[in-house]
Amino acid sequence: MECGMQDRTGKRLDGKVAIITGGASGFGESTARLFVRHGAKVVIADVQDELGQALCGELGESDALYVHCDVTCDAEVKNVVEVAVSAFGKLDVMFNNAGITGNVEPSILGSDDENFKRVLEVNVLGAFLGAKHAAAVMVPARKGAILFTSSVSSVVSGEAPHAYAASKHAIVGLTKNLCVELGQFGIRVNCLSPCAVATPLLVKAMGVEKSVVERIISESATLKGVVPTAEDVAEAALFLASDESRFVSGVNLPIDGGYSTTNQNYTNKIKQVLSELSG
Ligand SMILES: NC(=O)c1ccc[n+]([C@@H]2O[C@H](COP(=O)([O-])OP(=O)(O)OC[C@H]3O[C@@H](n4cnc5c(N)ncnc54)[C@H](O)[C@@H]3O)[C@@H](O)[C@H]2O)c1
Repeated sequence: MECGMQDRTGKRLDGKVAIITGGASGFGESTARLFVRHGAKVVIADVQDELGQALCGELGESDALYVHCDVTCDAEVKNVVEVAVSAFGKLDVMFNNAGITGNVEPSILGSDDENFKRVLEVNVLGAFLGAKHAAAVMVPARKGAILFTSSVSSVVSGEAPHAYAASKHAIVGLTKNLCVELGQFGIRVNCLSPCAVATPLLVKAMGVEKSVVERIISESATLKGVVPTAEDVAEAALFLASDESRFVSGVNLPIDGGYSTTNQNYTNKIKQVLSELSG
């Protein structure tokens, strides 16, 4: 198919096979739904077995398969790739999306070492293992797309716990390094950096109702009039997984309505001080 042209059915992933880690919930779940709608065969890899199996039931057995996989376990990640290849014949897209926030403690003095290790283990080692086992089948095929979910906290600092921020910066480094190594084999490597979105992960971490989380997101947003959803992240993943982005590699794509482009502390302080001075 020529660059930028869609399949005649309008299905942008027709004939492609994708693995989505953390595919049972949030961004991964929405991406699984969208990928299948666009003609992909999807393997959902997660530790939430009931959710993952129910989602596959909905999507249909011929299009979606659930595999239990703790992304921190090398053998389990290797197995997911093997299952994808044996069930669907190949692997075109590896979406390393599983992640955790860890403790929400913001201060380094209050941070706990075990939590730091665990966040790095899931968010970084897990993504690394996904890329490694995907590369093992993509390199001989001389094509493929590897995606990661980083975060706006890879671009804006001071708003996430240290372990989480460090892990999401690491994903950007991994993306760029892999883009260089794997480019020679025709494999593209990109990551997504969403802003706060009221998925189960964030709602749980904030400990308030989803509607409150969405209100905070909307009121702090740069782009007004849209409350970001997991579907917005899925649409970006669809673009980076499809041939429409066939010459895009090494990119950290913010999905944040422009949030990370600005820092209004100075402007807000001017307004506050001038209004205080004017009485
Ligand atoms: N929600 C946000 O505001 C936000 C913003 C930026 C980035 N992110 C990132 O997006 C990704 C997806 O998060 P989400 O918001 O959809 O959360 P979510 O909790 O809804 O989904 C994450 C999924 O990952 C799975 N998972 C966790 N640990 C795992 C492990 N060891 N092995 C396999 N699967 C595991 C969970 O079971 C869950 O199904 C994460 O990497 C997260 O850091 C989230």
